[in-house]
Amino acid sequence: MEEIDIKSLKIQLQKEIENSGDLKELNDIFNRYLGKKGELTLILRSLKDLPEKERRETGKSANQAKQEIEKAIDEKRQQLQTTNHKLQTDWFDITAPGEKPVVGHLHPLTQSKRKVEEIFQTMGFSVVEGPEMENEWYNFDALNIPKDHPARDLWDTFYLGNGLLLRTHTSPSQVRFMEKNNPPLRIIVPGTCYRHEATDASHESQLYQVEGLMVDKEVSAANFKAILGEFFRKFFNKNVKFRIRPDFFPFTEPSFDISISCIVCNGKGCSVCKEGGWLEVAGAGMVHPNVFKNAGLNPKDWQGWAFGIGLERLTMLKYKINDIRLFRSGDLRFLQQF
Ligand code: PHE
Repeated sequence: MEEIDIKSLKIQLQKEIENSGDLKELNDIFNRYLGKKGELTLILRSLKDLPEKERRETGKSANQAKQEIEKAIDEKRQQLQTTNHKLQTDWFDITAPGEKPVVGHLHPLTQSKRKVEEIFQTMGFSVVEGPEMENEWYNFDALNIPKDHPARDLWDTFYLGNGLLLRTHTSPSQVRFMEKNNPPLRIIVPGTCYRHEATDASHESQLYQVEGLMVDKEVSAANFKAILGEFFRKFFNKNVKFRIRPDFFPFTEPSFDISISCIVCNGKGCSVCKEGGWLEVAGAGMVHPNVFKNAGLNPKDWQGWAFGIGLERLTMLKYKINDIRLFRSGDLRFLQQF
């Protein structure tokens, strides 16, 4: 057997090994060359018939070729086995249901705030804002609540010093807005307010109010009632029972208390409505002449009504939430339900 043959056999074999796609193919190659009747096996077996010198040379290269080929086949086998393993473990079920990505969402109070804004905007109201850090003039004096007047006790205030405080209601924005804008006007002012008070199922020291103000030549309480009813209907998506009763606020005359029949217990009485069947959601009234004066408007020229709605209360009624403290608890089990 010529040495050249062994060389070309080796090259051809290596190509075949390289190209083999699976273990069975590789086995066939092994058998064809190195098996009992394999080509290389036959060459090695025929060595004994060769003359001494030739036998030694051919024998050497044939044995070397055998080792190289065995090694190449071994390597290829290992390579095929790992890809095979990969195919098996990487297999995935395309019919299995996908993993649901976690999607964030808005806090229930933010959702309510946006809903309130949307409803009032469709009725021609603009949304404006006021500062959470107020001074005593806007929070009290300008709203007809003089110093040392017992009415200041209506709100337990967080004082910051230097005449500054955290606003106890959004009503200061009434004066701030009327100072800079001439009637007729329709605004709502959503925002956070602070009260230094003991908390329970329906009271928190941080609360969200929406102030409403409408001023024109002729604005009546009947007009207020109509707009309020329309707002409730749109907010709760149904006709809700609400009542307007006389109340007292220094900055409105007359003043009203707005309550809604408790949706949580259908008016039967529960912890949310303190067993009364009604939940107070807003204070309101006709703008007091002194407030117009303090904002630089002539009370003889203008009439107006104002309200301050508690956003937590509205949201509690809408979703039947029985404890106001849940909103700011940060408890995901609560928040994930909205
Ligand atoms: N500011 C009042 C409160 O915080 C509510 C209110 C607003 C009452 C506007 C009358 C008019 O309770």
